[in-house]
Amino acid sequence: WPVFADDISAILSLKRQRNAVILAHNYQTPEIFHTVADIVGDSLALAREAVTTDADIIVMAGVHFMAETAKLLNPGKTVLIPDRMAGCSLAESITAANVRELRARHPGVPVVTYVNTSAAVKAESDICCTSGNAKAVIESLGVARVIMLPDEFLAQNTAAFMPNVEFITWAGHCEVHERFTAQDITSVRESYPGVMVLAHPECPPEVVAQADFSGSTAALAEFVEVNRPARVALVTECSMSDNIAARYPEVEFVRPCNLCPHMKRITLSNIRQALELRQHEVTIDLAIAGRARLAVERMLAVK
Ligand code: 13P
Ligand code: SF4
Repeated sequence: WPVFADDISAILSLKRQRNAVILAHNYQTPEIFHTVADIVGDSLALAREAVTTDADIIVMAGVHFMAETAKLLNPGKTVLIPDRMAGCSLAESITAANVRELRARHPGVPVVTYVNTSAAVKAESDICCTSGNAKAVIESLGVARVIMLPDEFLAQNTAAFMPNVEFITWAGHCEVHERFTAQDITSVRESYPGVMVLAHPECPPEVVAQADFSGSTAALAEFVEVNRPARVALVTECSMSDNIAARYPEVEFVRPCNLCPHMKRITLSNIRQALELRQHEVTIDLAIAGRARLAVERMLAVK
């Protein structure tokens, strides 16, 4: 990575000086993912790893809700997000007041909240989930009705595997995955005969229905690792293919993919600045931190 060499060597030495780790989501660009990241993975892996680190500083190369989750699990550590504006359309789609209203409308029905939400929304929830454990989390509740927030498509795609559970949903969508259409899948199959289509469950149900497999970003990567398809389309954020393609020179990675503008706010340059200037520190209101932490910890306790 010659053009990035200066930032990379500065970040590596700052990490040592400050006893810092960098957690990077699978949607970070390859120059972050393959050089400075200590831990890479899906949202669930990053939450799990955040608990085990003994570093003093966690830099989240991901979006704000991921940094908040790391802070919830590590109240005594400094958690930095290189760009405060790295948000998420799902997290933006719902407020704590919305969750309280839903609870009032459906008394006694447990609230399962996707981690792609603010700490304030998590605080109003019974338990969190990710795309990697949504079904297991709901099964762990042993209920016939559940409120699943805020990703309508993740809820519908999970409901497809749980016919005995009634799902009450919210109309939040991921701005990256909602843009994929069933026609995209038809076109990719026509253009690339034999292609395996793997779709993230934030995609609309009609897209997932046409895919060969659906799962979290870690599950998509594992599918490629285990099955080694000759041709594969990862129907998700573009960096996902970019990051794993180098590992499998024999696999042809084909599009469609979309970019997440929030994930793309994180760069080597602002990671370096974050470490140099200890910015931007993530803090969580004490009035909500305890309840939000409980919802995340309940999720982590589900195997
Ligand atoms: P996962 O990595 O948990 O599948 O999440 C995808 C995503 O959109 C994160 O923002
Ligand atoms: Fe949010 Fe979608 Fe971007 Fe993930 S990819 S951070 S869910 S907008």
